[in-house]
Amino acid sequence: MARSEGDTWDLASSVGATATSVAASRALASRGPNPPIHDPYAAALVRAVGTDYFVRVAEGAVDFDEDPLFDGDTMRAQIVVRTRYFDDFFAEATAAGIRQAVILASGLDTRAYRMDWPADTVVFEIDQPAVIEFKTRVLGDLGAEPAADRRAVAVDLREDWPAVLTAAGFDPDAPTAWIAEGLLIYLPPDAQDRLLDHITALSAPGSRLATEHMDSRAFTGDWARKLTERGQRHGSSVDLTKLFYSGERNSARDYLAERGWQISIRTTAQAYTAQGYEAPKDELLAMIGDSGYLSAELSARPT
Ligand SMILES: C[S@@+](CC[C@H](N)C(=O)[O-])C[C@H]1O[C@@H](n2cnc3c(N)ncnc32)[C@H](O)[C@@H]1O
Repeated sequence: MARSEGDTWDLASSVGATATSVAASRALASRGPNPPIHDPYAAALVRAVGTDYFVRVAEGAVDFDEDPLFDGDTMRAQIVVRTRYFDDFFAEATAAGIRQAVILASGLDTRAYRMDWPADTVVFEIDQPAVIEFKTRVLGDLGAEPAADRRAVAVDLREDWPAVLTAAGFDPDAPTAWIAEGLLIYLPPDAQDRLLDHITALSAPGSRLATEHMDSRAFTGDWARKLTERGQRHGSSVDLTKLFYSGERNSARDYLAERGWQISIRTTAQAYTAQGYEAPKDELLAMIGDSGYLSAELSARPT
């Protein structure tokens, strides 16, 4: 179904299924001896959602190797690079003394449980109610213990989420490390701007933010269509062309820079090589342009 204002989902439907898809990739990359990432809960979370295709991906039972666009090695590299980028971001932020973290659109992200957080760190996770409740319940049933003071915040990011976050104990005077991993493309352009405005307003000096960098040349229907066809070749029923808001939007890089953030961009090719992987195939790179990852720091509140 196409997107609409105020639409909702669980982890098996609409945008929620994309969270299960990413968790299935993390489960796949966590398999075997000496895996390049280790998400000990991803496979169990994917099994609990129960979507057959994602369970098979998580179990390594789908053969992506011959895929002409995005083969198995590229897929594993992609999730490793992405996971480490945001893991490293949080590790560096806490090493610099930040003790408040916010995971926007947390989906089936288990960082609050699996990362080494300094003892006094508070980690807020924000996502839609059905997503937050599901993950909290399944991890509780598994006996998983948060490794930080985890606060689950069930709210839609197109609504007045700062009020709900503040009610959960967020301190706007403490520097914060924010991540928005796999989120912006699922927000309408004006909701992206509002999100970045809210983050800026809630960020004390010294705050940091990491998210994807999206090259505007990549915002064509083609990108979503090619990725959708690639998933469907292997049995996925997710249709990204119906889930992305792929029209024109402000670039997060420019928008944040105008509001006083210092920006650092790592393109996908740079991110792959930084982690010791070969850059993806030219066809894939041509599709995503210079998209990659963005991190930013705010040294003073904008006046
Ligand atoms: C691709 S998944 C990414 C999940 C997680 N960040 C990760 O990388 O594993 C997209 C996530 O964005 C969340 N999301 C998208 N739009 C949202 C909104 N308006 N409000 C709250 N959550 C939203 C979805 O529920 C889903 O969990």
